[in-house]
Amino acid sequence: MREFLSKEAAALSPYTPGEQPLDRAYTKLNTNESPFPPSPKVLAALTPDEFRKLNLYSDPTCRVLVNAVAARYGVPPESVIAGNGSDEILAFAFRAFCGAGISVAYADITYSFYQSQTALFGLDATMIPLRDDFTLCVDDYMNVPGTVFIANPNAPTGMALPVSDIMRLLEANQNRVVVVDEAYVDFGGETCVPLTQRFDNLLVVQTFSKSRSLAGGRIGFAIGAPGLIAALNRVKYSFHPYNVNRLSLLAGAAAMEDEAYFQDCTKTVMDNRARTTEALRNMGFTVLPSKANFVFAKSDRLSGGDIYRGLKARGVLVRWFDTPRLRDWLRISIGSREQMQTLLDRLKDMLEGA
Ligand SMILES: Cc1ncc(COP(=O)(O)O)c(C=O)c1O
Repeated sequence: MREFLSKEAAALSPYTPGEQPLDRAYTKLNTNESPFPPSPKVLAALTPDEFRKLNLYSDPTCRVLVNAVAARYGVPPESVIAGNGSDEILAFAFRAFCGAGISVAYADITYSFYQSQTALFGLDATMIPLRDDFTLCVDDYMNVPGTVFIANPNAPTGMALPVSDIMRLLEANQNRVVVVDEAYVDFGGETCVPLTQRFDNLLVVQTFSKSRSLAGGRIGFAIGAPGLIAALNRVKYSFHPYNVNRLSLLAGAAAMEDEAYFQDCTKTVMDNRARTTEALRNMGFTVLPSKANFVFAKSDRLSGGDIYRGLKARGVLVRWFDTPRLRDWLRISIGSREQMQTLLDRLKDMLEGA
């Protein structure tokens, strides 16, 4: 196979998704999905009639979904683009706003897909270290050249910046694009969407995968000034014009319109996060303050790798990153109350035996 690989493909740095093993039923707390099904309105929108229309291409403008997002966030539809997951939107943004003469900057510890995009598009990247306590300090970005990508809340730490910090960065950097990846913002973070009406160099990217229970539907979107959205559409129409399938367009619009269900699910996750954080701290874990649907935690007794493997053997999957700054830590998605109880019970088993 190797001899068929182009030089460019050989230089890639593919993203490693969280494992999805099929060998047994796991309590799955490793990919930050929602533990709840999609809104009942999503199920109602996916009628047999809509399935029958799968012989037809989807609407390349994604109008129904774009309009639902625009209405929910109080922005014009020209300020919105929809994508096949927010990963696709991020990829469009890396292509649209980085390249020859435009480098990219992001934290050393953040969503690792940014590194995959850097390799995919052959970009020059500056990785800016988080502080020792894992905080991201926007002052470290003020004089760095190129397009900035910030995940807020960050992954895998779950820690969030206030909007005032992003505003300070935007005010000092009006001549470059700042992309704020808000995949986890609905779990207690502050959104920068209102700032998109003031700063024409700010792009906010969000997803339906976490707070709207549609990870498998692959739906993301971005909000920004019409000029930024037009730039993203240039890339989209060069790569994948019918990028969101017919059923996902309907599912996404229905999910966006069910505000009550969204509020209910996100509140439950935040309640479960508070309960889990307290229980983990009582068991000797250090837990970073999270505004996401996961926590990042470190045991005072066992290594991250030992806990990851021990939990897996006991039927619980969490995410462990075997890199120097992260290998003591575990990223644990916040699931239902029952799932979190299972996690805590299995951890107790392990720590008692340690
Ligand atoms: C920070 C961040 N951004 C974006 C994504 C991509 O989400 P999706 O492509 O499912 O919308 C993820 C996925 O876990 C993420 O952690």
